[in-house]
Amino acid sequence: MTPSPTVTPVLVVHGGAGQPSPDRGTDAPRLEGLRRACAAGWQILSRGGAALDAVEAAVRVLEDDPLFNAGRGAALTADGTVELDASIMDGATLRCGAVAAVRDVANPVSLARAVMERSPHVLLAGEGASSFAREVGIPPCDPAALVTPAQRVRFEAERDAARSRPGHGTVGAAARDARGHLAAATSTGGMMLKRAGRVGDTPIIGAGTYADDASAAVSCTGHGERVIQVTLARYAADRVAAGATPAEAAREAVRMLAARVQGEGGLILVGPAGDPGFAFCTEAMSRAWIGRDGVVHAAL
Ligand code: GLY
Repeated sequence: MTPSPTVTPVLVVHGGAGQPSPDRGTDAPRLEGLRRACAAGWQILSRGGAALDAVEAAVRVLEDDPLFNAGRGAALTADGTVELDASIMDGATLRCGAVAAVRDVANPVSLARAVMERSPHVLLAGEGASSFAREVGIPPCDPAALVTPAQRVRFEAERDAARSRPGHGTVGAAARDARGHLAAATSTGGMMLKRAGRVGDTPIIGAGTYADDASAAVSCTGHGERVIQVTLARYAADRVAAGATPAEAAREAVRMLAARVQGEGGLILVGPAGDPGFAFCTEAMSRAWIGRDGVVHAAL
């Protein structure tokens, strides 16, 4: 049997677009978190593993890191609870899975993958997603364990100011593996002070996440309602399919988001030739990437 040709793997992760964190003391640990996420995905890719495994591994690291708005450390709803959204997509097969408004799963990206691989559905929400988690052996976590002291303090300050904003730090990953296959995943606690039951762009395939070997792997961040209105991830992937470079496609996509719906956000993207791209129309978007040089680069 002829071995399939290999190409250089690439991985890009993001830790969300928005305003720079008001606590500059978290800058270094946030960068470190992004680097660890990249390293976890790269360990898989550099050994010939699948892009799908790499994006799941990278997102799990960020879900476990309390400095990011996903898994533990998620933004709180108006009721002071955590409701998590996540999705994952395999560019080789166009299979995808997602979960929304989940309260008791520490790594919703893995539950999204289970929806993709072990159910006939694409998106499960709330109690139904939780009972599916138990069915496939994903243990429940105490919802209180997902609430960090920092998010509780922020919740109280923003509730007093009656302000609802994108929770800083939705996370995501996009990758190409050595066989040239693409995958993307995204995970979030959503907007701080969101109404219980509100679902943003993150679990909506084509809005928060998209992957197709024929175009690009994309993970978005920002104001979910606006991102859904323009199906941002699919738009960016389509720009690559139409001939734009990933860097151009990312810039065009955020320009369109701002122009059409006055949306604030950003995205990361990997094209079929392995070129990474990212862009944001917010003040900041934390991100890290690794590719040909085998070195993790990170920026806030
Ligand atoms: N982009 C995350 C959200 O709006 O829920």
